[in-house]
Amino acid sequence: MSLQEALERRAGRVAALREACAPIFGRSKSVTLEIGCGKGHYLSSYAARFPEETCVGIDLISKRVEDGRRRAKNRNAGNAFFVKAEAMEFLEAMPAGARLEKIFIFFPDPWPKEKHHKRRLIRGEFLDYIRQFCSVGCKMYFRTDHAEYFEWAKAEIAKNSSWELSEETELPHEEVSQFQRILPVFSTLVAVAS
Ligand SMILES: C[S@@+](CC[C@H](N)C(=O)[O-])C[C@H]1O[C@@H](n2cnc3c(N)ncnc32)[C@H](O)[C@@H]1O
Repeated sequence: MSLQEALERRAGRVAALREACAPIFGRSKSVTLEIGCGKGHYLSSYAARFPEETCVGIDLISKRVEDGRRRAKNRNAGNAFFVKAEAMEFLEAMPAGARLEKIFIFFPDPWPKEKHHKRRLIRGEFLDYIRQFCSVGCKMYFRTDHAEYFEWAKAEIAKNSSWELSEETELPHEEVSQFQRILPVFSTLVAVAS
């Protein structure tokens, strides 16, 4: 596939996402977003506890997104929406004026080899890009079992002028995600959009 074709396909995906997500942002322009939500264990539980918030979980894998929808339905969390989307494409598809109030990123792929660090979700380019969609004070909650990725992410946030590391390490809600169940030793950090 040529670069031109790849860019056209990406633009097509973003346009389709924009259309698919219009009803979500029609409900509220301020959303709580979980990136890499897996099977929706956390977000469906969070949304059931905070019914006043509009919660969106995104993941690359269709089956996981379907599981998230099923979990939200079982919990009567009509304020939880699960969408198959890549993170940067989802952000690009957000309508003008839409804002992220909270961001959850739990147990993202650590890409342990140094040559793959550029694939890590939490990195300077991502922090700068997502900040454009955040209200001041938006909190990003990051949890991983991977000690080296944790320290790396902390350093990336510390050197980024758009985000501040908080002393806080608590989540607003606890629910064991699929990966947390198998990786019970982990660290959590909170970054605040400044
Ligand atoms: C290791 S799993 C963790 C799932 C869940 N957060 C948990 O704690 O059980 C990472 C998830 O992130 C998704 N993912 C990876 N990169 C992504 C991206 N750029 N945008 C959206 N989802 C992504 C993967 O498909 C996978 O389901």
